[in-house]
Amino acid sequence: TILVLDNGSQYTHLITRRLREINVYSEMLPCTQKLSELTWKPKGVILSGGPYSVYEEGAPHIDPAFFELGVPILGICYGLQEIAHRLHADNVVAGTAREYGHADLKATRFGGHVDKLFEGLEESMTVWMSHGDKLCNLPEGFHTIGETKNSEYAAIAHKTEPVYGIQFHPEVTHTPQGGQLLKNFAVGICGAQQTWTMSEFIGKEITRIRNLVGPTGQVLGAVSGGVDSTVAATLLKAAIGDRFKAVLIDNGCLRLNEAEKVQETLSRVLGINLTVIDASEQFLAGLKGEHDPEKKRKFIGGKFIDVFEEEARKIEAESGGKVEWFLQGTLYPDVIESISFKGPSQTIKTHHNVGGIAERLMAGHGLKLIEPLRELFKDEVRELGRQLNIAEELVGRHPFPGPGLAIRVLGEVTKEKVEMARKADHIFIGMIREAGLYDDIGQAYAALDPSRAVGVMGDKRVYANIILLRAISTKDFMTATPYPFSYEFLSKVATRIVNEVEGVCRVAYDFTSKPPGTIEME
Ligand code: XMP
Repeated sequence: TILVLDNGSQYTHLITRRLREINVYSEMLPCTQKLSELTWKPKGVILSGGPYSVYEEGAPHIDPAFFELGVPILGICYGLQEIAHRLHADNVVAGTAREYGHADLKATRFGGHVDKLFEGLEESMTVWMSHGDKLCNLPEGFHTIGETKNSEYAAIAHKTEPVYGIQFHPEVTHTPQGGQLLKNFAVGICGAQQTWTMSEFIGKEITRIRNLVGPTGQVLGAVSGGVDSTVAATLLKAAIGDRFKAVLIDNGCLRLNEAEKVQETLSRVLGINLTVIDASEQFLAGLKGEHDPEKKRKFIGGKFIDVFEEEARKIEAESGGKVEWFLQGTLYPDVIESISFKGPSQTIKTHHNVGGIAERLMAGHGLKLIEPLRELFKDEVRELGRQLNIAEELVGRHPFPGPGLAIRVLGEVTKEKVEMARKADHIFIGMIREAGLYDDIGQAYAALDPSRAVGVMGDKRVYANIILLRAISTKDFMTATPYPFSYEFLSKVATRIVNEVEGVCRVAYDFTSKPPGTIEME
């Protein structure tokens, strides 16, 4: 395993990604990690970039014990400055040499050879720079192994120890040979093995779950019909069979025929022990009169836990044994989000399944958490799903938010409004699939804007609701751009929705990027 210590750069998780792409297992931890508290020994350590200057008060500094560990170290950008600064405080100059964008790096030759870090790479390569400070002196014992026009010390290495520093970012796609460089470090210099594969992961995870839960333990997990919960549930089923109990809570805001569809896939096809709880009336009654998006989200989250806890008690009464475990489909980006080194950040939206639920279930019901996907990125979860024989249509499904259509009906939620959004969404997604565009789009849905507009239908004046269509292209759901449908396609969708969804007289397409918009409406 290669350890990545995060100094707060927005690119840090990409280092982990690039390494896993070449089958080297890598984990990211915050820069505040103490070596003495680490339970495993890394084969190498990468220090990420970060938005600070090493001289700033509060700037992160790595536990010096990592430098005594005797494994190779690679500092990237801020990580390079951290290495240099540690050796001599005057090695870095602040703020005088901002450099953003492409640069040409030339690897230095030593007796005809470039350094091991650049082996097999083109001698002159394009690299991506993004930094404020830079090195002004070579730290003692180091030499330059690569330079650019503006950075004499763009890449340096210790002459005898395996300690490296680079000013550019090899983890971003703007550095085309960056993946190979990271491979040179991880495999060539650290000697990490390229054995991180999904089938190995499945075997290890099943054993881990069995050991954790023991021979009689019961696990309860909420499923939604989405990729993550389905894959997590299938893995649990493979590990402990029917001692894993899945629950689908119908909150009255699911997509068209979703409860039946989930029953078909999870219960009949995948053989998972599933209970569907129709709590739609309770949810819709509680949402009555509530217009505020955050209050809607909080109510749905809270109600969800109430219903889930009640089900846990029921299962215990029926089986005579305690439910001790709670399955959650947390993914690595959520983990990264919670462990990245950052200052206080503002809550934009209270996400349904990330904060809150687990804490309440653990505190209130004494449930312990199982998170089999917490080391995986979304596309790795998809790959895992494929290996567990889950149908491609499900594995490739767009994400769907926990609060469901409730946050796609603007303002107060009623059964009738949910019904309109649901029908429109079904038509829109169906047409996207027919046109062969589904896999090209990150996420798409129809929402209902209940502030009505005037129209004329069948020679009569109508005063009816507006449907908002949203579809986005995205890599990571952190930023997104509107999907560029053809005018013709959108007109066809609009015509069908107005004709087929009663109570709707207009259709609009949302052209907002994220930021400033978010992907969901509320
Ligand atoms: P936003 O609207 O924040 O959405 O740009 C980013 C991604 O998160 C999904 N989303 C949620 N997922 N529970 C979830 O499981 C939630 O409460 C929730 N809110 C938003 C959204 O669909 C998009 O994929």
